[in-house]
Amino acid sequence: MPTAIPHRLLPNPRAAGRDAEYGAAQRAVLNRTAFAEARDEITRWPGYTPTPLVALPGLARDLGVAAVWYKDESGRFGLGSFKALGGAYAVFRLLAREIAARTGDRVTSADLVAGRHRELVAGLTVTCATDGNHGRSVAWGARTFGCRCVIYIHETVSEGRRAAIEAFGAEVVRTPGNYDDSVRRAAGDAAANGWFVVSDTSYEGYLDVPRDVMQGYALMADEAMAQLPGGERPTHCFVQAGVGGLAAAICGHFWERWGAARPSFVVVEPEKAACLFASAEAGRPTVFPGALDTIMAGLACGEVSLIAWQVLDPGADAFMTIPDDGAVAAMRALAAGTPPVVAGESGVGGLAGLMAAAADPEARRRLGLDANSRVLLFGSEGDTDPALYADLVGRPASAVRDAA
Ligand SMILES: Cc1ncc(COP(=O)(O)O)c(C=O)c1O
Repeated sequence: MPTAIPHRLLPNPRAAGRDAEYGAAQRAVLNRTAFAEARDEITRWPGYTPTPLVALPGLARDLGVAAVWYKDESGRFGLGSFKALGGAYAVFRLLAREIAARTGDRVTSADLVAGRHRELVAGLTVTCATDGNHGRSVAWGARTFGCRCVIYIHETVSEGRRAAIEAFGAEVVRTPGNYDDSVRRAAGDAAANGWFVVSDTSYEGYLDVPRDVMQGYALMADEAMAQLPGGERPTHCFVQAGVGGLAAAICGHFWERWGAARPSFVVVEPEKAACLFASAEAGRPTVFPGALDTIMAGLACGEVSLIAWQVLDPGADAFMTIPDDGAVAAMRALAAGTPPVVAGESGVGGLAGLMAAAADPEARRRLGLDANSRVLLFGSEGDTDPALYADLVGRPASAVRDAA
């Protein structure tokens, strides 16, 4: 029997049910047409290659399920996380809209990479606040497509993460206070200077850019569908969430493509930053109070993204919370597995949720998790903070990879 991990599990009281159609409210967020555009652009970017879908039969055996598949995003465009798909795609879309508005020309990302409208683009500035991964993606997109970029990081973002963003040519500004303070500073400076905010979360009046971000993420789900052996379908999918953009992109894509045959979808959050869980309990978007001081920095969010909620409120089958220790246990299980997998603390929430549920007979029953279950996970980051990785796992990522 796997080790017990304390958790909370809430079957979604508002779940639309297996047979519910992927409706107009969901299509307004993510849909086939917008996805086809995102796929056509992103798959032509320099360095594009699908990330691997890794089968983990040993882990499946230990957890008492038939199969575990892990989509390993650590190598995505050399940026270390799935975020490479979203922020950079939103940068492209924003530049394309701006060029169309100013010149009437409709450009592709290949046009921008080739230097079309170089001068116009160089005069545009994109900006965002970040605790690491999203800012890296926006900075990389800005460099790839030729615009200027200013990224705001708050007090506790590590110097390593700062350097990774600067390496893509962005100007990085460290602001006093927490993440929310850096968001306000980015918005204020953008308004004062005529810059464009590229945020990965949506709120009233700011929906288009985060929609593009999420549409980019959906490519990951699409790749996984094509990579599953012999066209097999997972029965369950556990995905970690911060504001919910990643989870909603995957949930929406499977719902639209597979309909009633989609996997049962479980959203997993840190117990110290569970805004989706709180919203599901309350039946509406609800702020999660407190310091949000989880080691899962990418998931440390107190407010849901409104458009993500539009998909997950009816589309998720259950919400879970897990402790920081659960994430560490999941990182170690992956590092010790066959093959060994390097995964960062914000990338393993889904696995931690599966481990917690698998060890709890009541949770297994409520989720319909049994010896026939085939579970799909999205490992959303590698060792994006290498020092923290070595500290939590007990050896550096290089030693884990060498054991392969
Ligand atoms: C590695 C990683 N995984 C998952 C997430 C969660 O994504 P979202 O905030 O869209 O729920 C983040 C967000 O920063 C992240 O960095």
